[in-house]
Amino acid sequence: MMKEVEEVEQVARDFESDLQTLPPDQLRIKYLSRKGLIPKLLEKIPTLPPEQRRDFGKYVNDLKKRVEEQIKQLEEQLLAGGSKQVAVEPLFLNDVTLEGKRPPLGNVHVLFKARDELLGIFKSMGFSFFDGPELETDFYNFEALNFPPYHPARDMQDTLVVGDRVLRTHSSAMQVRALQAWGVPIKVILPGRVYRREEVSARKYPVFYQFDCLAVGENIGVGHLKWTLETFLSAYFQKSVTVRFRPSYFPFVEPGNEVDVKCVFCDGQGCSVCGGTGWLEILGAGLVHPRVLEYAGVDPDRYSGFAFGVGVDRMAMLKYGINDIRLIYEGDVSFLGSL
Ligand code: PHE
Repeated sequence: MMKEVEEVEQVARDFESDLQTLPPDQLRIKYLSRKGLIPKLLEKIPTLPPEQRRDFGKYVNDLKKRVEEQIKQLEEQLLAGGSKQVAVEPLFLNDVTLEGKRPPLGNVHVLFKARDELLGIFKSMGFSFFDGPELETDFYNFEALNFPPYHPARDMQDTLVVGDRVLRTHSSAMQVRALQAWGVPIKVILPGRVYRREEVSARKYPVFYQFDCLAVGENIGVGHLKWTLETFLSAYFQKSVTVRFRPSYFPFVEPGNEVDVKCVFCDGQGCSVCGGTGWLEILGAGLVHPRVLEYAGVDPDRYSGFAFGVGVDRMAMLKYGINDIRLIYEGDVSFLGSL
C-alpha cells in the first residue's frame, strides 16, 4: 500500500500549492470533479487487499473533506472582498463596468489607402477592373505594346527576367490582355504590382504599384483623355486641378504625353514638393497606338482609345506628404501607424 499512500500525499501537497494560485472553480475541477485527482485515488480502493481498504479509504476521504472545506473557505474569503493573486481571475472579482484596456488597433497601409481611393474614383465613373499575371510574357509586356526589339526597356539592365518570362515592368502589360478578353468598347482599370531592376533610393524601388486606365471605342480622343484626367485628379486631390500635356514618347501611344498637374500644394507658386517648378509630373498618357489595337484584334480604322498609367506610390506620397518611397515598403510601424 506504500505506493498508494505516497500518491495521496503527493495530491495533498499539490493541492496546498494550487490553493495559492488557482481560483475555486478550477481547484474543484482539478481535485473533485468526476475525473479529478481525488476520485482517481478512490478508484484504487478495490485494487487493494481487503484488510487495507478501510484505512486507505478513510485516508483519502479525510483529504477530500479537507479539500472541500478549504475551497469553500477560499470562496467565502473572496466573496467577502478578500483578494488573491490567481492565475485566472474569476469574473466575479472584476468590476465589469470599468473601462477596459484598449488593444492597439491596426490601420490600412497608406499605399493601399491611396490605391483604394484612386480605384474608388474610377469605380464611381463606371470603369471595370481587370487583372493579369505579374510574371508576364515578352509578348504582352513589350511586343504587343509596339516596343521595337532594340528598345532599351527590353534590356536586362531594366527588366527582371525569370526563365522565358519577365516580371512585368508596367501595368500596361494588361492592355492587350483586357482587349482580347473583353473586346470593345471597353473602359477598364488595370491595377497591379510591377517590377524594375532599379537601385533603391528615396524615389525608386524595384517593386511598386501602378494602374493603367484604358478606354477604347468609336470616336474616343484627346478630349476624353483630358476630361478623365482632370476629373479623377480633382477627386483624388479634393480640389480642382489644372493639367498640362508635354509631348513624350511611349511606343504604345501616339501621340504620347507626360501629364503634369499644377502643384496642388503651392498652386503653381513653386515649393519644395514641386521642386520650385510649380508643376508635378504625375503620369504618362496618350492615344492607343493603332498597332496595339491590331495586336489585340481590334480594327484601328473603326476604333480608337486613350490610355494612361499612374504610379500609386507616387500618388500616395504626394497626398500624404511622404518624401521617401522606402518608408512605404520598409514596414516601420511607428511611421505607418501615424498615417
Ligand atoms: N506604362 C507607362 C509607364 O510605366 C505609363 C503609360 C501608360 C504611358 C499608358 C502611356 C500610356 O511608364
